Amino acid sequence: EVTAPVIAIDGPSASGKGTVAARVATTLGYHMLDSGALYRLTALAARKAGVAWEDEAAVAAIAAALPAEFEGERILLSGEEVSEAIRSEEMGDGASKVAALPAVRAALLARQRAYRRWPGLVADGRDMGSVVFPWAECKVFLTASAEARAERRHKQLIAKGVPAKITPLLQDLRERDARDTARSVAPLQKCAEAELLDTSNLSIEQAVAAVLGCARERIH
Ligand code: CDP
Ligand code: CDP
Repeated sequence: EVTAPVIAIDGPSASGKGTVAARVATTLGYHMLDSGALYRLTALAARKAGVAWEDEAAVAAIAAALPAEFEGERILLSGEEVSEAIRSEEMGDGASKVAALPAVRAALLARQRAYRRWPGLVADGRDMGSVVFPWAECKVFLTASAEARAERRHKQLIAKGVPAKITPLLQDLRERDARDTARSVAPLQKCAEAELLDTSNLSIEQAVAAVLGCARERIH
């Protein structure tokens, strides 16, 4: 039996993972897993249920039965569209809090692996190459300076009409990075075999080309 290949893209917030992963998936005709969305959905579902983000057993139960659906660009929670709601800085913060709980990560593991389907998968997150798909053919670690990343988030928010300031965004980003890097389960770190791509001075097209180059070399 032939198993579908996996391209794992990990990195800190606003390094360009989602954008690059989506373009690579479109180019190759692969499926796509935005693993961060699952943690954001878990944080939002907990908030709606009145469950504290620190309550490990209760949040893990929510994650295990997450009533989420992905319909192209639309993300639904219990049938309600939450595509915008999960992208707030607050849900990013909540996602990073629930993501530090081992039982929550365990509850989402099988669900993430089930996205590996023919003809292939592009998965982005923090532990795609280290924990969820350790056997992935291609592993890429995207990064960029905190300043470059805060500026990108700022532009994204302004483009959506959301008022934002760089300084608090930079501070939130640094706090979330520190929490994601310091946690004991599946911390954000580059696997030895992952290709390091610093996008501070790279265009999206250049980053996409580098990932496609890796795919061409390793996936047959
Ligand atoms: O998924 P992640 O949080 O890592 O980042 P993203 O949402 O894909 O990218 C954040 C923003 O940076 C987007 O608006 C991208 O268009 C932009 N970007 C960029 O300016 N240059 C790159 N090389 C990659 C992304
Ligand atoms: O878009 P951005 O990179 O800011 O965040 P995201 O990829 O949507 O992830 C939100 C949060 O979920 C991160 O800060 C991580 O704490 C957590 N996460 C994780 O722990 N493991 C993953 N595979 C993906 C996200």
